[in-house]
Amino acid sequence: MSQTTLESPVDLLRFQLRTAMTMEEDSLAALGELEQAARSADIKKMFRHHADETREQIENLRKVFGVLELPESTAASPSTKGIAKQAESLISRSAAALRDQVTLSAALGNEHYEISAYQSLIIATRAQGAVDAVTLLTANLDQETHTSEELQKKLEEIAR
Ligand SMILES: [Fe+2]
Repeated sequence: MSQTTLESPVDLLRFQLRTAMTMEEDSLAALGELEQAARSADIKKMFRHHADETREQIENLRKVFGVLELPESTAASPSTKGIAKQAESLISRSAAALRDQVTLSAALGNEHYEISAYQSLIIATRAQGAVDAVTLLTANLDQETHTSEELQKKLEEIAR
């Protein structure tokens, strides 16, 4: 299997953007699975809401490719596939009464991965002086951060 060598910061940035597209597509699929597995209506609603946000995030990433004048495509995201696989495994071995906690934990792990991806992308994009791309990526990062806070809050409520 041939592999492209990334030579420049822009090569790396484009590759990370392509990975982020797959990351968000994986997140969208995972949120559907988590919604199915959760028991409480309000937690299902949270996952649905974040799925809607994820669709906006995918649109924002498309715009970032455009702003940077880079061809849009995707690249493999084994990390998000792994997070989803781990969630699936944990859900399958957990009693129904634990499902809300398990799905919230899995979503929180995914959010933290996404946050780290956007933090790196924002630094790299800012270094290119691409202000509009920074704005779009920051909007995504802010949503992920807000979601992670909501998930933590919900987890704390359940733990009481
Ligand atoms: Fe996301």
